[in-house]
Amino acid sequence: MAGGPAEWDAEAYHRLARPQEEWAREVLRRLPLRGEETVLDAGCGSGGVTRLLLERLPRGRVIGVDGSQAMIDEARSNLEQWAGRVELRAGDLLELQLEQPVDAVFSNATFHWIPDHETLFGRLRGAMKPGAPLVAQCGGEGNVAEFAGAIEAASALPEFAAAFEGWPAPYNFAGPALTEERLRAAGFDGIRCWLEEKLVEPKEPREFGAAAGLAPHLERLPEERRDAFVDAVMERLDKPIAYRYVRLNIDATAA
Ligand SMILES: C[S@@+](CC[C@H](N)C(=O)[O-])C[C@H]1O[C@@H](n2cnc3c(N)ncnc32)[C@H](O)[C@@H]1O
Repeated sequence: MAGGPAEWDAEAYHRLARPQEEWAREVLRRLPLRGEETVLDAGCGSGGVTRLLLERLPRGRVIGVDGSQAMIDEARSNLEQWAGRVELRAGDLLELQLEQPVDAVFSNATFHWIPDHETLFGRLRGAMKPGAPLVAQCGGEGNVAEFAGAIEAASALPEFAAAFEGWPAPYNFAGPALTEERLRAAGFDGIRCWLEEKLVEPKEPREFGAAAGLAPHLERLPEERRDAFVDAVMERLDKPIAYRYVRLNIDATAA
C-alpha cells in the first residue's frame, strides 16, 4: 500500500511474535464479553491474537482489519478453522468504515504504527455502538528507546540515508494524558490510560527485532540492502540484546 500502512513479513512475525501474544492475553482479560458479540480486531496482523479473541466468543464474530495484505493472507490461513465466524479485511484503520457498528473493539500492538491518533480514534468511535468498550494496548511514551535510537543512527549512515531522507520515524509512542484527551475528543468516556514496562530478551534477537519492529524501514530499502540495515541496527544495541518495551494501555467506552 504505497503511502499507507507498510507491508510486513507476516510468516516471520507469526513465528516470532510470542511476547506480543502474551501481552494480548493480559489485555483480552480486560475486555468484558458475554460470548455472542461482534468484535473488531483493529490491526489483526497474522491472526495469532485474533484466535484468542475468537476463543472468548463462542457464539460471536470477529472482524479483523489490517493494513498489510501479507498479514491478512497469513491470518486467513491461520484462522481457516474459524472461517465461518471471522471476516478478514485488508485496509487502513485511518479510513475504517464498517457497514454495521460493532459491540466492542480490541487492538494489540498496533496503534503506535499509526501516525494520526485523532483520526484513528474518530474512525473507531464511528464503527462502535454507544456503550461499546474499547480495550487496547500499543507502544507508549518511551517504548524501545534504545532500539529506536539504533534505528535512527543506522538510518543516517551514508549507505542508507537516501532511503529515509525526509521520512518521519514511523512510530507514534503517545503518553496516557494526551491519549485520554484525544479519546474524549473522539467521543469516548470511562477512559483510563496507563503505561506498563515489559522486558523482552528473545532467543533470536535479530530475527525478532526485524520481524516485530522494522517492517516500515525495510520496505523502503531494496531487498538486497535489508540484511545490512538490520545488521547496522543490531551492531548499535548493547549485548546481550534486550528490548525494553513501554506499553500504553487503553480502556474506554463509546459515549
Ligand atoms: C505488531 S503487529 C500486531 C498484530 C496483532 N495485533 C498482534 O498482536 O500480533 C502491527 C499490525 O498493525 C498493522 N497496521 C499498522 N498500521 C496500520 C493501519 N494504518 N491500518 C491497519 N493496520 C495497520 C500492521 O500491518 C501489523 O499487522
